[in-house]
Amino acid sequence: MESRGERLSGEQLLRWRRSLLKAGGRPADLDWLIDLAGGLGWQALQAVRLHPERSLELRLSCQALAALWQRHLETDEPLQYLVGRCPWRDLELAVAPGVLIPRAETELLVDLAQQLLFPQRLLHPQRLLISQQLLIRPRPPASWADLGTGSGCLAVALAGLWPESRGFAVDLSRHALAQAGANLVAAGLGDRVQTICGSWWQPLAAQRGLLELVVANPPYIPTAVWRQLEPLVRDHEPAMALDGGADGLDAIRSIVAGASVHLAPGGLLLLEHHHDQSSAVLALLRQAGLEAVCGHGDLEGTLRFASARRPIN
Ligand SMILES: C[S@@+](CC[C@H](N)C(=O)[O-])C[C@H]1O[C@@H](n2cnc3c(N)ncnc32)[C@H](O)[C@@H]1O
Repeated sequence: MESRGERLSGEQLLRWRRSLLKAGGRPADLDWLIDLAGGLGWQALQAVRLHPERSLELRLSCQALAALWQRHLETDEPLQYLVGRCPWRDLELAVAPGVLIPRAETELLVDLAQQLLFPQRLLHPQRLLISQQLLIRPRPPASWADLGTGSGCLAVALAGLWPESRGFAVDLSRHALAQAGANLVAAGLGDRVQTICGSWWQPLAAQRGLLELVVANPPYIPTAVWRQLEPLVRDHEPAMALDGGADGLDAIRSIVAGASVHLAPGGLLLLEHHHDQSSAVLALLRQAGLEAVCGHGDLEGTLRFASARRPIN
């Protein structure tokens, strides 16, 4: 996206923005493009409305931005792929076709991991009761894994939180793994996380019984639902990242099946799932002999996450 910036007045910018929206698309998406590619954030755009007489500078020319917008409208390509970046938590990650664009709800997995490992209210100061037999002191996990790392969003966030921990980011897609590796290196975290190609637990045989935390946002959309997704997602984001098989639970079954063997005693498994899979996922976790099985809601209260621990004994 080699292009020079452009200086213009606020009034010119607002007129140009209105003319682009006449061709279609959502105002919020266009403002996202103006922010990420043009370098004019939401607050600055509000200031332009208050003071349209002031001049401002865009990082890309209006012509280049308009070309990206037009392509998005014509081809349904996600803007994140066209710009090559996606904001997520406090990060700005590189993304490209072939790699899932990280979603806002997945940000909560990081918060959940922190809350479950470091609960605010403990019965005993500095100690957490995780089974009838054992009290442990909360501390960062010695080692953790992110199964199906995609862009590496979860791995980058976890590695940033716990400098002393050793992380493993696994994906079956070499494309995704390369992107995750690049995002880890760009964040200065390349030496804290090993990226490994393979299917779920298979490349983690050497970590059997050692992983104190495993997070996963696996493909969980039932195939029939995936087929009906809007073209923006279905035709451009990798099916392998989204399609979870007939009932959406293929990947979750595989992950749950290997959890007891790969987690350390007392280790925590944290999964994202579809909005209507909570009871099925909790049942799978219990059937697998895990304990402290619990569902967690997203910001709207819909159960979208599940956690469980490997028993100590
Ligand atoms: C829903 S995406 C999640 C990506 C990223 N963790 C995120 O939250 O944005 C699922 C990821 O699982 C990967 N995946 C699919 N099947 C896999 C398998 N058998 N083993 C490992 N990873 C797999 C996909 O390539 C994709 O990157």
